[in-house]
Amino acid sequence: MTHASPVTAATLARAKRDGHKMAWLTAWDASSAALAEAGGVDVLLVGDSLGMTCLGFDSTIPVTLEQMIHHTAAVVRGRRRAWVVCDLPFGSYQVSPGQAFETAARVLRETGCDAVKLEGGQPMADTIRFLAERGIAVVAHVGLQPQSVKRLGGYGRRGRDEAERESILRDARAVAEASAVAVVLENIPAGLAAAITRELDIPTVGIGAGPDCDAQVLVWHDLLGLSERNPPFAPAYANLRATITDAINRWSADVKNGRFPPGGD
Ligand code: KIV
Repeated sequence: MTHASPVTAATLARAKRDGHKMAWLTAWDASSAALAEAGGVDVLLVGDSLGMTCLGFDSTIPVTLEQMIHHTAAVVRGRRRAWVVCDLPFGSYQVSPGQAFETAARVLRETGCDAVKLEGGQPMADTIRFLAERGIAVVAHVGLQPQSVKRLGGYGRRGRDEAERESILRDARAVAEASAVAVVLENIPAGLAAAITRELDIPTVGIGAGPDCDAQVLVWHDLLGLSERNPPFAPAYANLRATITDAINRWSADVKNGRFPPGGD
C-alpha cells in the first residue's frame, strides 16, 4: 500500500507553480480531522470561527489562545498527512512582532501544528516578516477580517469601491513580500481575487472570492449543512442538520416508548 506524503509548505508552493488546486477545510477535533482527510482535504484550518460554530459566541472576538491550542492539538492528533494551520485569536498577536512570536511559538510547541494564520495586510507585514525570519510558517488573511467586525459593523463584502479594492491589493502584495506562505482572501470580488492570484507568487486561498484562487477553504458546518444559515458563497454539500435531528428524534422516541434498548440478553 502506498501512502501519500505529508503536505508541507513546499507542497503548497509546488501546487501553485503546477496549477493544482488545493482543498482547505476547517476542523476542530480529531475525528473531523480524520474525516476531512478521508475526503481528500489537504489543509486543515483550525479557524477561530470555532467561537461561533462550536462555542456559542456571536463573533470570533472572545476566543482565547487556550481554546485554540486545545482544539488544534486535537486536530493534530487526528491528522495523518494534512497540513494543520492554527488561527491566532484576537488580541494574541496585534501588539507587536514580539508578542506574535511568543504566541506563535507557544502554539507550535504545544500543538504540533504546522503554521499559524493571522488577520491583517499592510499593518501586519512587519509581524509576518519577523515570524518568517524566525522559521514560522505564516498564512495571512486579507479582505473581510472577522476579528475587525466591531469596527467594520458586519461581515459584508469588502472591496466594493475602487479605493478599497486598491487597499486589498496592497494588503495582498505586502503580506506576500513579507514572506507569508499563503494568503486567505475572504469575501472580495472574484475579479480582484483573480488579479491577486495572477500577480502573487504565493497561493491564494479563497472563501467568497470566486473560482480563480489557487485553493478554496470552507467552514465545516457550512459545507456539511450543520449551520443554521450559510453565507451565500458557501453552498452546503449535505444536510447533516436534518440527518442528525432525525436520528436523535427516532432514538429518543424509541427510549420514551420503551423500544430502546431492544429486549434480549
Ligand atoms: O476562522 C475561520 O474559519 C477562517 C476561515 C473563514 C478562513 O478564518
